[in-house]
Amino acid sequence: MASGLLRRAIARVPPLSPAARAVISRPHASEAQAQQLDPKAKQSSTSKTFQIYRWSPDSANKPELKDYEIDLKECGPMVLDALIKIKNEIDPTLTFRRSCREGICGSCAMNMDGHNGLACLTKIPSGGPTMITPLPHMFVVKDLVVDMTNFYNQYKLIEPWLKRKSPPENQGKEILQSKEDRKKLDGMYECILCACCSTSCPSYWWNPESYLGPAALLHANRWIMDSRDEYTKERLDAINDEYKLYRCHTILNCAKACPKGLNPGMQIQNIKKLELQS
Ligand code: SF4
Ligand code: SF4
Ligand code: FES
Repeated sequence: MASGLLRRAIARVPPLSPAARAVISRPHASEAQAQQLDPKAKQSSTSKTFQIYRWSPDSANKPELKDYEIDLKECGPMVLDALIKIKNEIDPTLTFRRSCREGICGSCAMNMDGHNGLACLTKIPSGGPTMITPLPHMFVVKDLVVDMTNFYNQYKLIEPWLKRKSPPENQGKEILQSKEDRKKLDGMYECILCACCSTSCPSYWWNPESYLGPAALLHANRWIMDSRDEYTKERLDAINDEYKLYRCHTILNCAKACPKGLNPGMQIQNIKKLELQS
C-alpha cells in the first residue's frame, strides 16, 4: 500500500518503470533561444505551442514535456484536433486514446492546462502554450495513455447490472418502470466512465486502491436507485465501509471535472443518506 501511494504521487524525481508518472522536466530551449538559433523560426500570430507529456516504457529516457508548434489556421478547433495533427504531421510516435471525437466514448480524457477533461470537447485555449499531461495520479502506459485497470475493477466491484430475486412478471418481456422511477436515474446513466472525476478527487489520489472513487460510487447509486433492482440492501451493505464510501469528504472536485455535467459528489451524498436510513 505504502509503495503504491509513493508510486502514485506526482513527483519531480521521475519514477521509473513499470510505469512513469506525470513529471515536468523541460530539456528544450526556450522560444527566444530557439529564435536566436534560427531567426526563421519566428512564430506566426496563429501558431501555438503544445507542451505534451512524453514517456515510453521502451526508452531509458525520463518523462519530459515536449514542445510542438502548430498553425491553428490549419487545425480544427479542439485539443484532440491538435493532437491528431501533431501525430499525423510532426511526430507519429505521440500516443493517446481517442475514438468517437464527440464526448461519447470517454477515451480521450486527459489533463489540459491543469484541468481534467475530454480532448475532443475542449476548445484549444487562446494565448500562450497549452500543457497536456495524462490524467493525474494514474500509472502511465505511454505518453497520454494511462492504465485504467484499477478504475475498471472498482466499477466491476459495484456489480453494474440489474440483479433480481424474483422472475419478471411477464416472462421474456422487459421489466417495466414508471416514468417517475426512470427519472431517478437521470444524472447517473449518462456517465461515460472517462475517469475525469475520480482522477481529480484528492481522496482518490491518496487511497486509490481502497476508496471506490466518485465514478464507481455514482454507478453504485445508479443501481441502488433503480426500481427494478432487488438487491438494494445488499448493494448498500457492500459499500458501507470506512474506505470504500466514507473517504468522500464532499470536496466536489468531481462535479467540477465531469465533462458530462454530472455531480458524483451529490450521488455519494445520497448513498450516505440511505446508509443512515437502512
Ligand atoms: S465530493 Fe467526494 S468524490 Fe467528489 S471530489 Fe470530493 S471527495 Fe472526491
Ligand atoms: S461521472 Fe463524469 S467525470 Fe466521472 S466518469 Fe462519469 S462522465 Fe466521467
Ligand atoms: S474521443 Fe470519445 S470522448 Fe473524446
